[in-house]
Amino acid sequence: MLEKLRNKRLVFVGDSIGRNQWESLLCMLSSAVPNKDSIYEVNGSPITKHKGFLVFKFKDYNCTVEYYRAPFLVLQSRPPAGSPEKIKTTLKLDQMDWNSWKWKDADVLVFNTGHWGNYEKTIRGGCYFQEGAELKMKMKVEHAYRRSIETVVHWIHNEVNTNKTQVFFRTFAPVHFRGGDWKTGGSCHSEKLPELGSSLVPRETWDQLKLVTDVLSNHMNTTWKFGILNVTYMTAQRKDGHSSVYYLGPIESPAPLHRQDCSHWCLPGVPDSWNELLYALFLKREATTHGLNSSTHRAQI
Ligand SMILES: *[C@@H]1O[C@H](CO)[C@@H](O)[C@H](O)[C@H]1NC(C)=O
Ligand SMILES: *[C@@H]1O[C@H](CO)[C@@H](O)[C@H](O)[C@H]1NC(C)=O
Ligand SMILES: *[C@@H]1O[C@H](CO)[C@@H](O)[C@H](O)[C@H]1NC(C)=O
Ligand SMILES: *[C@@H]1O[C@H](CO)[C@@H](O)[C@H](O)[C@H]1NC(C)=O
Repeated sequence: MLEKLRNKRLVFVGDSIGRNQWESLLCMLSSAVPNKDSIYEVNGSPITKHKGFLVFKFKDYNCTVEYYRAPFLVLQSRPPAGSPEKIKTTLKLDQMDWNSWKWKDADVLVFNTGHWGNYEKTIRGGCYFQEGAELKMKMKVEHAYRRSIETVVHWIHNEVNTNKTQVFFRTFAPVHFRGGDWKTGGSCHSEKLPELGSSLVPRETWDQLKLVTDVLSNHMNTTWKFGILNVTYMTAQRKDGHSSVYYLGPIESPAPLHRQDCSHWCLPGVPDSWNELLYALFLKREATTHGLNSSTHRAQI
């Protein structure tokens, strides 16, 4: 894969689960490089707890593997002047994130979406929706989410040269909490085996997958090329793969049982498989003369 990425940029954009996948790919690629000093963050930023973006360079290959934090993909910023007090920020559903200009020339661009598509992460925290200059106080979260994906799709269509840039959408990675959720003491530390069903996965997961599938398939046609990394089903079966009480690292773990992380993933682990699928799609796309003959590539299990 490093050979294939020579002189190229591979960019992940999304939330912290996208970061999880980016870290996985960094680990996998760096295992093939004997001289670890030849791999570094271009701005010298530390990898831990860093917000914003991180660009790792593999010097011998002149390639970078980058992560941009943009959980909403669209722009979150100050509300219009004179807005009610309770509105702390707004999501501009018709504008891309500030950093989008840095993504569009990537050679491989992997979006992920989804962990914000709920009331809790938006309106409850004072984040309301906006289109143009207009506040959309009554807009439902699902509708806002749909609008945001449409904005991303239009942006890809208008701004990205898909002859050069391979664009992928990774679908939602389900959480697995037993007996509550992240803030009410839900747990996954005792999950030791995968499950062919997906009994712990919240119902909204499937609503959200359906919504994304709808939007993307509405926009697919013969001239329209991007890949879907459809990991939702395979990942739903991996209730055993989360960091649970071990997310604090080797010294401070385990965390208290009522504060578990059943959203992110241990590494090595589940995101490695997403990256193997990503690589398969990437190779497939390369093999079909850069995708000019086929409109979409899907990977799913
Ligand atoms: C390194 O890769 C960048 C693209 O990421 C390219 O613009 C540049 O020309 C490459 N440098 C060399 C020495 O090939
Ligand atoms: C992409 O490639 C197609 C087919 O070769 C060509 O018609 C189209 O103009 C190219 N688009 C861009 C933006 O270069
Ligand atoms: C993802 O896979 C599921 C299960 O096979 C399917 O129902 C859904 O349509 C797929 N979504 C996309 C966007 O490919
Ligand atoms: C393909 O889909 C894009 C994005 O929705 C749209 O802008 C474009 O007009 C469509 N092209 C055709 C030939 O239908």
